[in-house]
Amino acid sequence: MKNETSRGKALKEEILSLVAEYYKSEHIKPDHKPGDPIPYGGRVYDEKELQNLVSSSLDFWLTTGPWSDKFEAEFCQYFGVKYCSLVNSGSSANLLAFMALTSHKLGEKKILPGDEVITVAAGFPTTVTPIIQYGAIPVFVDVTIPTYNIDVAQLEAALSPKTKALMIAHTLGNPFDIKAVKDFCSKHSLWLIEDNCDALGSRYFMDDKWGYTGTFGDIATSSFYPPHHMTMGEGGAVYTNDPELHRIVNSMRDWGRDCWCPSGHDNTCGCRFTQQFGELPLGYDHKYVYSHFGYNLKVTDMQAAIGCAQLEKLPGFIEARKKNWQYLKENLKDLDKYLILPEATENSSPSWFGFMMTVKKDAPFTRDQLVRHLEENKIQTRMLFAGNLTKHPCFDEMRDSGKGFRIVGELKNTDLIMNNSFWVGVYPGMNVKKLDILLSLILETAE
Ligand SMILES: Cc1ncc(COP(=O)(O)O)c(C=O)c1O
Repeated sequence: MKNETSRGKALKEEILSLVAEYYKSEHIKPDHKPGDPIPYGGRVYDEKELQNLVSSSLDFWLTTGPWSDKFEAEFCQYFGVKYCSLVNSGSSANLLAFMALTSHKLGEKKILPGDEVITVAAGFPTTVTPIIQYGAIPVFVDVTIPTYNIDVAQLEAALSPKTKALMIAHTLGNPFDIKAVKDFCSKHSLWLIEDNCDALGSRYFMDDKWGYTGTFGDIATSSFYPPHHMTMGEGGAVYTNDPELHRIVNSMRDWGRDCWCPSGHDNTCGCRFTQQFGELPLGYDHKYVYSHFGYNLKVTDMQAAIGCAQLEKLPGFIEARKKNWQYLKENLKDLDKYLILPEATENSSPSWFGFMMTVKKDAPFTRDQLVRHLEENKIQTRMLFAGNLTKHPCFDEMRDSGKGFRIVGELKNTDLIMNNSFWVGVYPGMNVKKLDILLSLILETAE
């Protein structure tokens, strides 16, 4: 990406061709043999990711730079969204997406400490963490089974004069009922933050067209941690169609600064030394004017370079996930007397993150027995992350004081998930051979 001398170009070509050889020698995995572990997820890559990584390291830009710009532009094009900000993790993306809605730039609409945000407890903690860290109140609503998403029938009951937003994930790739959630948000003028970390590539049909999850709400997030739909090692993204939110996200990501010059550039706006801000002296260097209390959550260009190669593979990854999920579903259908099998939300085409199962209460085996059997045979399993987040030690103080959060009705399905559910992988590294081993272990437990 850097301007190079012809000698530099030739050397790079040679290095990258050696990298491809190295990939073939050291990274291609032998076929799965009986007894080999079967993980629930992991990196799927070829020489292109390694070459991009080495190429960006030779550029030696290091911080957010040209590869990040390329990734953001291609991501926007792929998903049909206007603005994307790369960050260093999905959790950072959630933090920024939420914090953006607390910005003074939003006037009356901004979320204040003590305001309420509707969410669920059956999911990943960092969908909820930013709400609590800011001093807002998470309001937990139960989920439905077998879609494992927010129970939209309870939204009105969750509402209070303090409600400002919904922050929810599309569970394991399955879109939540976007139509009902959007209607509720519009009716009550609420923000919608879509945690799309586990659902990249999932689609939903509304208003006579298909759209990608992450493009329906005000702001959305992705994670590029290795088991996710695509990876850059550590990485995440915040995306939105709202230019104001985008500017706020970038400000908060980049130390809280007001200036929007990309790193390594000065005076893009042409008025670096002529403006008046706060009570600063006239013309104080715009590069060092802070409009927010921010962080530094930027990604490195090496991570973005890997992401560029992964994005090209994303359509194939999505197809593989769908196919693997379908294979498990078809081959487990006779076990539905013991297992609640997952179902896609109406009007959706999920890009599945995993295959969820809930062991029925009267099954001749428990969730723990089934999970143990799989794990003992080297099949990785996962819980639905926190199960019921409000039961965790991080909630001890709030539970004891009864302050800082609210539960709407009872979290019956959430508790059922905590006790009886688990999931297995459908990532593109699975194949029929591995899926058959997994299936036979599940089937023999039920015999
Ligand atoms: C729904 C959801 N949100 C957020 C995250 C956090 O992403 P990261 O691990 O990149 O911080 C995860 C992680 O798996 C997740 O599943």
